[in-house]
Amino acid sequence: MDKRTAPDLTAFHLNGQVVEVAAMPGERLSHSLRERLGARDVKIGCNAGDCGACTVLVDGAPVCACLMPVQQAAGTRVETLAGLVKADPHATRLVDSFQAHQAAQCGICTPGMMVSAVALLRDRPTPDAAQVQDALGGVLCRCTGYRKIIDAVVDAGAGVAPAAEGSGDVGTTIRRLDGLPKVTGTEAFGDDVAPAGALVLRVIRSPHAHAGFTFGDLDAFRAAHPGIVAVLTAADVPGLNAFGVIPGFIDQPVFAVDHVLFRGDAVAAVVGDAEAMARFDLADFPVTWQVRDAVMEVDAALAPGAPQLHPGRDRNIMCGGHVACGDAEAALSRADVTIEGQFTTAFVEHAYIEPEAGFAEMDGDRVVVHACTQAPVMDQEALMQILGLPRDRIRIVPTAVGGGFGSKIDVSLQPFLAIAAIRTGRAVRMTYDRVETMQSTTKRHPAQITMRIGAGRDGRLSGMTFDGDFNTGAYASWGPTVANRVPVHASGPYRVADYRATSRAVNTHCVPAGAFRGFGVPQSAIAQESLFDDLAGKLGLDPLELRILNALDNNLPTVCGQVFAQGVGIKPCLEALRPAWAAAKAECDTFNASNTTHKRGVGLAAGWYGCGNTSMPNPSTIRAGLRADGTVVLHQGAMDIGQGSNTVIPQIFARAFGVPVHRVALIGADTDLTPDAGKTSASRQTFVTGNAARLAGEALRAAVLSQVNASPDAVITLDPSGVTVTDGAQSFTLDLARLTPNPAGYVLEVNETYDPPTKPLDKNGQGEPYAQYGYAAHLVVVDVDIALGRVRPLRFVAAHDVGQAINPLLVEGQVQGGIAQGMGMALMEEYIPHRTENLHDYLIPTIGDVPPIETLIVAVPDAHGPYGAKGLGEHVLIPTAPAILNAIKHATGARITRVPATPARVRAALKEVGHA
Ligand code: FES
Repeated sequence: MDKRTAPDLTAFHLNGQVVEVAAMPGERLSHSLRERLGARDVKIGCNAGDCGACTVLVDGAPVCACLMPVQQAAGTRVETLAGLVKADPHATRLVDSFQAHQAAQCGICTPGMMVSAVALLRDRPTPDAAQVQDALGGVLCRCTGYRKIIDAVVDAGAGVAPAAEGSGDVGTTIRRLDGLPKVTGTEAFGDDVAPAGALVLRVIRSPHAHAGFTFGDLDAFRAAHPGIVAVLTAADVPGLNAFGVIPGFIDQPVFAVDHVLFRGDAVAAVVGDAEAMARFDLADFPVTWQVRDAVMEVDAALAPGAPQLHPGRDRNIMCGGHVACGDAEAALSRADVTIEGQFTTAFVEHAYIEPEAGFAEMDGDRVVVHACTQAPVMDQEALMQILGLPRDRIRIVPTAVGGGFGSKIDVSLQPFLAIAAIRTGRAVRMTYDRVETMQSTTKRHPAQITMRIGAGRDGRLSGMTFDGDFNTGAYASWGPTVANRVPVHASGPYRVADYRATSRAVNTHCVPAGAFRGFGVPQSAIAQESLFDDLAGKLGLDPLELRILNALDNNLPTVCGQVFAQGVGIKPCLEALRPAWAAAKAECDTFNASNTTHKRGVGLAAGWYGCGNTSMPNPSTIRAGLRADGTVVLHQGAMDIGQGSNTVIPQIFARAFGVPVHRVALIGADTDLTPDAGKTSASRQTFVTGNAARLAGEALRAAVLSQVNASPDAVITLDPSGVTVTDGAQSFTLDLARLTPNPAGYVLEVNETYDPPTKPLDKNGQGEPYAQYGYAAHLVVVDVDIALGRVRPLRFVAAHDVGQAINPLLVEGQVQGGIAQGMGMALMEEYIPHRTENLHDYLIPTIGDVPPIETLIVAVPDAHGPYGAKGLGEHVLIPTAPAILNAIKHATGARITRVPATPARVRAALKEVGHA
């Protein structure tokens, strides 16, 4: 290195050891810790001080390591989670308490949370909840809803012994089987796994919503930048230069060819050694843009003469959905009361704390991609098309996933990395920065909804119509799924005999909208559940009783004509809220009688969600085997993105096989080692993969029992000497050593597949789209500051029919996390293309925002579910936003029809109904 630019050495203590780094001037402490000192327990979520994931202690004080130049750390004492858990008694207690409370879901925020908590406990050994909220206020979590984190820290300080674990059988709470690495800093996420010396890749993206472009001299550019190894463009894509997730809608280019359709569209990639790429300024890349007119809103995209994004799509309408039964218009015309409303929702950012990250390398003639993902086999299949390679030439090895919520079902950096690894023959890594992930990855669809609902004087529904336009952005992603799902669900979980729902997904020059917890159903629920309250008001009926009166039940047809003879659990969910509903109404009345500046209200809403794909094959396969040493191994390919499938699926398998879950060794997702368990989305893993695990457990059990001719009720015991089968008074020892192992080393092996029974929908959406639905009802009490328009939820009660809770604490965690996301959607989250591309302009709920949440687990078993279980992941936020909007209306009389209900919007609505 040139002596004039050689950096000085910076020395400090890291976890008790003196270290020295030769860092570049101004280099972030977080970068030095991770890349020069190997402290990968320090996580990076934003590099802007917004998320707090990189929090470390510097001379005992919590600091965002991304904001501190490493040179400022000279002579200090730096402590990270990995060091604290070895040496600090507070950290030791937190390790235990976080696991006992399941306070870490995906785990990407956990190091920042725990480091901040250690600083608090050193200063204040027995903090209360408010003090924990203050101390951890700088760290964001997108998964947990924070309440379990607060409980974990309070209990660690108070020395509360963690609750005893259950047996691990279905229905009992145990700690996450994969939980320990999350709380010790050893979990390896997408940015933690690249080998030393890997090349670095950065993508050149459009700064414009719509533009043509031309490259300058790329060879000259490369020659002028020593250390840059390759420049990749569309010409370097060996196969199909397109990806997508729905057949017929594979429309997003890996690299745009000559024009871009949204700000963030990729046009090229630059690959080089790490130092060269750190010096490289993206603005130096030789590309010129010819800016064109863009349409950002649905109405503009539909207007005559609007630029057409894709040939062959009428007025930019990508696709639509339709469900109709009975005669909705006739029923509305004879209804005693009708109500109509227009509702508008915003783009919502997933805001997982882990940006997309990973690396790719060659293994002989195979390309191996290590990256965070929700769908490894879908990634493999996308790369087969893009690379023009057969399946056996591509291996996907997922890393731990620091949150996904739907967006990481789509491929993002995988094609870039794979092409670069093939082109260079070297390991190539990439991590999106926060702006890049927010600019280029999918969002929740904004919706414009018009809905009419009618009822008789007795409150019985009489007709419902729904028209929804969804801004699906520049490319398809999961837009067709949203368009299809919404009409199926827009009735809510009610008996509606006369119904018509129509949806359209419309292309605009916005970032693509895709999958986000609920696939459009949270948007439709805002309209339908808000209007239900307004209908109750017009009828003079209690909103809860109106819902119970009209709730679906066994043997009543859905709007698709599907009749479930069992398992319909919405009425028990609503009935479970009756005590809290009565108490909250009384509490609000008392408060409001003596307060004028603040008003309180209680609101509720219900929701349902069909688990799995809509009327499409949806299989999961589970493989399991028994080794000669008695080890039982579960090959579990369902991605655990924090929701808990690495624990739930083994619990189901262990029940079916008949052994304790802790005797099951887990092999996680890897396309070489695990069969396809489908994508982690649509609330399908517990239901679909859980059933595959049940079948695999039963099959392996049958295989063991047949070896000794034991009866089906015999007891299997695994011990170091092999397998003992106790059948009544008889006991057999199965000598595994006499069985011949297969090439995988198993003396017995099974592969079992489950595919939910569904039937196609006809042109009116009649059929059997799902084998099961899950059901939910939320209640919230809010406080509204009349002068400021600020809305503060004070507490939630959430009733969820999960059929059978496989692990009840995991259910609570999902509910709390979903409610926090629903709160964000209702009150603060609005992604504005080109403007809110970071976590300080785009706000998500913090630890101070989420109030106490009571979870009521309702168990109406489903005949198709493993041991009766139903899916849960989407249901947890569907009722939240409309419940909040209904509570605002109850408190103030103001109906909010556009979310998020920011203080300005609430204030405007308050003025309209006469609040000064
Ligand atoms: Fe906090 Fe996932 S557990 S971000």
